[in-house]
Amino acid sequence: MDEILERRSIRKYDLSKKISKDTLVELCKYAESAPSARNQKSREYVIVTDKELINKLSTIMVGTMILAECDNVIIVVGKDPKTISRPEFQPQDLSAATENILIAAAKKGIGSCWCGVYPIEERIMIINELLGINDGRFAFSIIALGYPKDINEFRDKNKFSEDLVHFNRG
Ligand SMILES: Cc1cc2nc3c(=O)[nH]c(=O)nc-3n(C[C@H](O)[C@H](O)[C@H](O)COP(=O)(O)O)c2cc1C
Repeated sequence: MDEILERRSIRKYDLSKKISKDTLVELCKYAESAPSARNQKSREYVIVTDKELINKLSTIMVGTMILAECDNVIIVVGKDPKTISRPEFQPQDLSAATENILIAAAKKGIGSCWCGVYPIEERIMIINELLGINDGRFAFSIIALGYPKDINEFRDKNKFSEDLVHFNRG
């Protein structure tokens, strides 16, 4: 499980090392294996490799500026909440899928960075428009992907402390 402990947000990429289309699709497969409330499968994925579009995404907010550094992006998209049985749990379905992509990428030596979109309406609207989404689906998170410039960026920073854990009461 080292890839979970050693996963870090990677923001500088070695652009000479390409991620194949098959690998990007495989990362979506890992995402979709995440749990979802009542198994409602409330997610879709948009892979962006068009550099012009990635550059447009990078200008949306300060947090997405790092996208300009990478050649590959996966956007986790929520299905129209009206079409699923437990929409109140959809953000959790989408978060679980996003995290799976980060872990699966780390396992493959691929760096990633989660850029938050949902629940900020303005960001969702801009990204939906850039992706041509206008049918009730919505952009949830943007994940920058690329092989790290410095492999040592994968490291266990030990965020954990036993004080965070409680037994039998909070
Ligand atoms: C919901 C969410 C939104 C985030 N948004 C951004 C972002 O917009 N830009 C960015 O560079 N990092 C973003 N991050 C990454 C965090 O900054 C990062 O996870 C945190 O600093 C801890 O560092 P680590 O991932 O290396 O452990 C986001 C992470 C989460 C979970």
